[in-house]
Amino acid sequence: MTRGRFIALEGGEGVGKSTQLRLLAEALRTRGVAVVTTREPGGTPGAEAIRAMLLDPAGEGWGPRAEALLFAAARADHVDRLIGPALARGDWVLTDRYLDSSRAYQGGGSGLDDAQIMTLHRIGSGGLLPDRTVLLELAPDLAAQRLAARDLGQTDRIGGRDAGYHARVASAFRQFAQDDPARFALVDADGTPGAVHARVLAAIA
Ligand code: TYD
Repeated sequence: MTRGRFIALEGGEGVGKSTQLRLLAEALRTRGVAVVTTREPGGTPGAEAIRAMLLDPAGEGWGPRAEALLFAAARADHVDRLIGPALARGDWVLTDRYLDSSRAYQGGGSGLDDAQIMTLHRIGSGGLLPDRTVLLELAPDLAAQRLAARDLGQTDRIGGRDAGYHARVASAFRQFAQDDPARFALVDADGTPGAVHARVLAAIA
């Protein structure tokens, strides 16, 4: 049995990751590929429970290190119980966010050291990396318009951080893509869902 392919969609808030994940899954299924779609934080009952603690925390919320540990713990369960077994069966796994969100948000946004985040990932998830990471990029004003339409002004504890935080997240993502062009594909997320989908397909071809 050949191991399946592991593809992550990454990017800031409102760039259209969920829509593109759905379109990509449909396109692959049409080609006869067995596809598992999932998201982070979440994907398993345990990781979804951690998601609720992260996005709607009690009290004053988590400090950056506790937050990074919780994301790594959620990911460990996700890899152990869902991603790993699916890949071993030969299925393709498409995930809405993965490790690079921790590197961009807890690293770029909150200032934790990238090497420490990678250490947590080795401890939690054996260092499993996607075969391809599609980074969707969109100008902040366009992303804000899409978010306003989607969330009607509601946001979660992390999405609601200030514009400076999200600018650091975006530049961290871009830097990772530049540093590792073999794993990352940068995709312009401006345009209709169909137009962006064609770019995503080209990026994983
Ligand atoms: P979600 O509602 O899934 O956001 P989006 O629709 O923008 O993908 O919430 C996930 C939030 O968690 C989002 O603000 C990004 C953040 N996040 C991290 O900070 N670190 C991580 O490792 C992951 C996976 C997500």
